[in-house]
Amino acid sequence: MKKIWEDPTQLHKNIYTPHSYFFSYESLDKALTKERELSKGFMYLSGTWKALYFENPLYCKDEYIKLDTDKSSWKTYEVPGAAELQGFGELQYTDEGYPFPIIPYEVPSNNPTLLCSKQFRVSLKDNKTYILRLDGVETYYELYINSKYVGFNKGSRLSREFDITKYLNDGNNEITLKILKWADSSYIEDQDMWWTMGIIRDVYIYEKDSLSIEDITIRTNPILNTNNWELDIDILLSKEIIFEEVLQAKLIDEDINIIKVNNVNNGKKYNIKMVIENPNLWTSETPTLYNLIIKLEEKNTNIISYTPMHIGFRNIEIVDGIMYLNGSYFQMHGVNRHDFNPSKGRAVTMDQVRDELILMKEHNINSIRTSHYPNDPRFYELCDEMGFMVIAETDLETHGFMFMGNIGYPSNDPLMIDAYADRITSLYHNQKNNPSIIIWSLGNESGMGDCIRGEAEVLKSLDSSRPIHYEEDREAEVVDIISTMYSSHEKMDDLGANPIGKPRIICEYAHAMGNGPGGLADYQKVFDKYDNIQGHFVWEFYDHGILSTDENDTQYYKYGGDFKDYPNNGNFCIDGLVLPDLTPSPGMLEYKQVICPVRVLKEENNYYVYNYYNFLDLNHIKIDYSITRDGYEIESGIIDFDKSVKPLDKIEICIPKVNLEENFDYHINFFITQNEEINHTPKGLQLGQFQFELQEGYAYVSKKSNSTLSYEEKDFSLLIKGDDFSVEFNSVEGKLKSIVKDKIEILEKPITLEFYRPIIDNFVDYAKKNWKPKYIDILQEHVKHIDYQTDEKKCVIVVETIIAPPVFKFGYICKYEYVISNNGEIEVKLSGNPYGKFEAFLPKIGSSLAISKEFETVSWYGRGETESYEDSNSSSIIKRCESLIDNMFTNYIFPQDNGNHLDTKEITFKTNDNLDFTIYSKDSINFSIWPYSLKKIDKAKHTNELLEDGFYTLNLDYRLSGLGSNSCGPLVDEKYQVKFDKFSYNYTLVL
Ligand code: GAL
Ligand code: MG
Repeated sequence: MKKIWEDPTQLHKNIYTPHSYFFSYESLDKALTKERELSKGFMYLSGTWKALYFENPLYCKDEYIKLDTDKSSWKTYEVPGAAELQGFGELQYTDEGYPFPIIPYEVPSNNPTLLCSKQFRVSLKDNKTYILRLDGVETYYELYINSKYVGFNKGSRLSREFDITKYLNDGNNEITLKILKWADSSYIEDQDMWWTMGIIRDVYIYEKDSLSIEDITIRTNPILNTNNWELDIDILLSKEIIFEEVLQAKLIDEDINIIKVNNVNNGKKYNIKMVIENPNLWTSETPTLYNLIIKLEEKNTNIISYTPMHIGFRNIEIVDGIMYLNGSYFQMHGVNRHDFNPSKGRAVTMDQVRDELILMKEHNINSIRTSHYPNDPRFYELCDEMGFMVIAETDLETHGFMFMGNIGYPSNDPLMIDAYADRITSLYHNQKNNPSIIIWSLGNESGMGDCIRGEAEVLKSLDSSRPIHYEEDREAEVVDIISTMYSSHEKMDDLGANPIGKPRIICEYAHAMGNGPGGLADYQKVFDKYDNIQGHFVWEFYDHGILSTDENDTQYYKYGGDFKDYPNNGNFCIDGLVLPDLTPSPGMLEYKQVICPVRVLKEENNYYVYNYYNFLDLNHIKIDYSITRDGYEIESGIIDFDKSVKPLDKIEICIPKVNLEENFDYHINFFITQNEEINHTPKGLQLGQFQFELQEGYAYVSKKSNSTLSYEEKDFSLLIKGDDFSVEFNSVEGKLKSIVKDKIEILEKPITLEFYRPIIDNFVDYAKKNWKPKYIDILQEHVKHIDYQTDEKKCVIVVETIIAPPVFKFGYICKYEYVISNNGEIEVKLSGNPYGKFEAFLPKIGSSLAISKEFETVSWYGRGETESYEDSNSSSIIKRCESLIDNMFTNYIFPQDNGNHLDTKEITFKTNDNLDFTIYSKDSINFSIWPYSLKKIDKAKHTNELLEDGFYTLNLDYRLSGLGSNSCGPLVDEKYQVKFDKFSYNYTLVL
């Protein structure tokens, strides 16, 4: 006989009919708190459970489920949480492939099994129904109450309920779940994430009265040509009510005044319609919610219940291929969000979710795709409250069938029709009343087929008020919104220019793996250009690193392969805008700036403020400006402008006249801040900054000095001595070996031309194909010629070298020229001429040296504070910055190149005792400084492998190729690639 967990036609047994998410309370006061914990008979069963783990379900004997089983040897299991992270079984990470052979829909016989149970007390009341609710259990489970079988379920992230009334005792009770990691449903739950098992969301019980609400469906419909809306509520009761009994719905404002009352009594199904005059509408920028209270009163009993629902008046429609929310055009600036916690797997607390949402708000993100499964119901409530436009996706992905040559195999299998329909129906019923959900998504990466068509059909019959998204419906056959993933900005430009009559989104782009994504600004230009492109969702929010501690008690994060899991997809799960501890990465800051809802733009010689909000004017916005000369502020003030400017409109602003003196850089900066607290973000929050150059003229003025240089020729070296400094040149290697100032050795490693950098995730493939085979990572340097001239005032050293890979006949003929002056300046002129053929682009062209660890702080005039690259620098402006050197390194979970600062003209390093030296460059160089060498960073695979060197590696670079997002998406754009061309640039060390 087929095992239940290998039979995809068996989806669940004895579940309670899916309905919308709500709770009923015994008093109005309690109802108004909307805390489910205060609702009738609510009781969490989450917390400490007892568990036994088996490698095969057959080892899990029925007798273990018996009530009198001795559980003293069972381990504890904290619910909710991934079982593997509590010592039950092993974690495994794969992106696409199933970690078992494809035998549709059979699973390994050694199927990790967790038997877990918890005791609890209930004082049973008459005429009550007791509902047990589980919001997420991976993957298949059987439910037992007091050792009696209640039912089973599949659908890991679908909320399910069971009526357990008849199994309960008055007093002590026990719940037992037998959970299997693999089931036929695993074949349609192949999302790119950790494979885990266990109870990942809360388990709880609540009570229902004999007269109670079974379901509530709420719609808000605008009434044509008025400002009024119809509130349309369907209510399903547990039984018919008679005339004297009451079903009352009140929409109450915050003062608890009754706005409308309506009584209906007629059978089990009720419909209530109210007209609400001129309500404040719900949008992601104005998430106004009204309280609806449904009161039920049964005659001759004392039963009265109050059921609160929050209402957001909003409607979404598509007209001529464009989506409108409440009649307004909008653009979704989104992220893909997985549930993730570095210690608990996919079990997340609502406090954590709230922190995440606030972080998103603070970074101008207004939309979320719940990739790739339903979330805890409270997640959507938070989105309603805080104002996010949500694409609610159901739990469905069959990616692994790609390896069978047909990713959509189950989607075309008639056996699967019901499983697919069940997944969308369950999501719909649970979350149908959340105003934040403006789009449904049928799933992810499951090909196209009749099961998908079936899903769309079921959904359309249930809900005609929201559009449907599914990325793999490439011909937009059943979806209302067409979508792609990872298309280049050129491709998006093409798609935008040729609309198909349905709105378009890019449901995943800008793969945020490691250092990146680059190119966000180029994308945004395209998105802003076309009305029909209405949403873009960065992949993804979180780095899914698992918090671990090594033998030296150093914390670090693990990823695929670190648990002896094989096959695995390594660090492909470390691809988020925030690190596992929720620290925003530089990519997140870049995204924030690029999608800033208020932008200052310069057109010809005029400055304009653009309103890029979807719904708000700019009354809550303040724009400060500052004018800087060589980065130092010389003037500042507030920009006065008409704040009534409407969305997608602009208004010209005046900027003060500046007297521009020669030989200075001048910039004007605009800082966009909120001048009030709004939508859970504080007053004073900076939303973005815009900089414009007024003049380029920076000039370093040399110190005058009358002192003279003296020279000492030693074996193989030339020593050049000034007043308080000396420089040693090694005449065999052609390198500066030492720079001493005030008896402190500055230089730990000589200045060397460098063309390689630690590989970033976005270059892994490119490096494998283009750099490694050509040995770009191990270029050799051969000294060809050394020449020097000395006099009292200066010493000029010229070194000619060839820098080239072994094996091949191409490389650079390079020249280093050092001019060491009596005033303590060392001018470094670096140049190179390519010879031979190398068609790829280079990681970078630059130079590296190492400086003493005596230096502690760095201040610079260049882009900051955050790191910047040619295709990712919107979030940093040119200014004066200061930092501890140790904070200049971005600790990416998978170590890689980081910390670059573009457009740098001055850098000063200081020791604790105020000894300093400065580097100047008129050429606006790139710089980064690391406590680790290039090789170390390149080699390390986890942060704890990075052990500090006894020196700092300082990179002073001509150009670095941009970042791109080629870890899953387009390679860095051609214009940001450093070509194998000739170069020359200079900088000056001033001692
Ligand atoms: C997409 C997929 C995501 C994730 C991403 C790469 O193909 O939908 O789940 O795998 O690529 O990180
Ligand atoms: Mg996938």
